[in-house]
Amino acid sequence: MRLEIIILAAGQGTRMRSTLPKVLHQVGGKSMLQHVIETAQKLTPKRIHVVTGHDSNLVRETLLTALGEQVIDIRWTLQEQQLGTGHAVAQAMPDIDSASTCLILYGDSPLMKASSLKELCSSDADLSLMTAKPDNSDGLGRILRDPGGGITGIVEHKDATDDQRLIAEVNTGIMACKASSLKRWLGSLDNSNSQGEYYLTDVVATAVTENAIVHTELAVDPTRLMGVNSLAELAIAERAFQRLNADQLMLDGVTLLDPARIDVRGNTMFGTDCILDVNVILEGNVVVGNNVSIGPNCLIRNAVIGNNCRVNANSVIEDATLGTSCEIGPYARLRPEAILKDNVKVGNFVEVKKSELGAGTKVNHLAYVGDSSVGSEVNIGAGVITCNYDGS
Ligand code: UD1
Ligand code: CA
Repeated sequence: MRLEIIILAAGQGTRMRSTLPKVLHQVGGKSMLQHVIETAQKLTPKRIHVVTGHDSNLVRETLLTALGEQVIDIRWTLQEQQLGTGHAVAQAMPDIDSASTCLILYGDSPLMKASSLKELCSSDADLSLMTAKPDNSDGLGRILRDPGGGITGIVEHKDATDDQRLIAEVNTGIMACKASSLKRWLGSLDNSNSQGEYYLTDVVATAVTENAIVHTELAVDPTRLMGVNSLAELAIAERAFQRLNADQLMLDGVTLLDPARIDVRGNTMFGTDCILDVNVILEGNVVVGNNVSIGPNCLIRNAVIGNNCRVNANSVIEDATLGTSCEIGPYARLRPEAILKDNVKVGNFVEVKKSELGAGTKVNHLAYVGDSSVGSEVNIGAGVITCNYDGS
């Protein structure tokens, strides 16, 4: 099967009440659009088309920077005016091989799982649609069915009658279909609805009238498919993402004293027998060895922490490297280019920047060590300051 994926990311996201384009808002320290692109890449499609529009330069530049070399296989399509999701898909169609299967994803749904998308794409139907029954279906498109249970169409919340709004099953926005059929269905869209938009969702009714085979798949975990339209929904997505991440860490053997109180905004690697107390924040790339304990309220960004280290409460570590068996904090601050060799102790109210501390060295209290190369087994007392003041 030749698979092409279209990701819709042109909308402004008015309901976010923000100047930042909606798809650039972050979940787990990554833009929602980057999450969607990375999930799409896991399906190894022939091509990924991203439709941008509102602030398209900013969206593209941000993604180019964030994805680096991974961005090579992405085609960017411009939707100059945001006339609706159907119109957005139509902008990408000229670039799509008619013989392919098309998977359409929305850039504001960051929690999707690649395996469920794969399943949807492998259906033999002309059109496969992922539906869900979330606790709150406010604002979402409702799935219409005939008395026999067959799908007949989708009605958007704003166009729905009171009775239709009682329907629990909603459209997640994810659909897979044959590109040749999709091209035909898109051609018959109109914008005679309450929002004056060309709705992608209207292709379902068109497919049904054509007697095409339309398959629906009800999602097991609706949270995974939620779209983010407001900052309140962004917060819900963030919590859900963090919980999924925490569950994975525990499966990988990391002890979390409270899985609801850890935030990971980047990539982590842990050895065995690590224990994390509450309110630990890990950002960027964090690599942790075996048997490491991290106390409450620590912020760790881009760091390598060796085996048997203890990071005590309220410490901040950024762009730093710790050897084995170091003890940090409470209230220690390691700034960029702090390199601690084995068995180093950095105690309370000590700041270390751009300095190497040799094995066994201790800076137990109230000191600033900057721009220094300190040997091994050195004892630095309270009140000591070493720094590089304007170069001399
Ligand atoms: C859409 C669906 C709705 C579904 C819901 C699931 C339509 C008409 N409605 O509603 O049935 O329940 O998602 O989350 O499809 N976009 C463009 N160009 C446009 C308009 C939108 O690229 O002209 C993009 C947006 O950036 C966004 C995505 O399409 O990433 C969805 O648009 P949005 O306005 O959020 O649609 P919903 O109202 O959430
Ligand atoms: Ca949405």
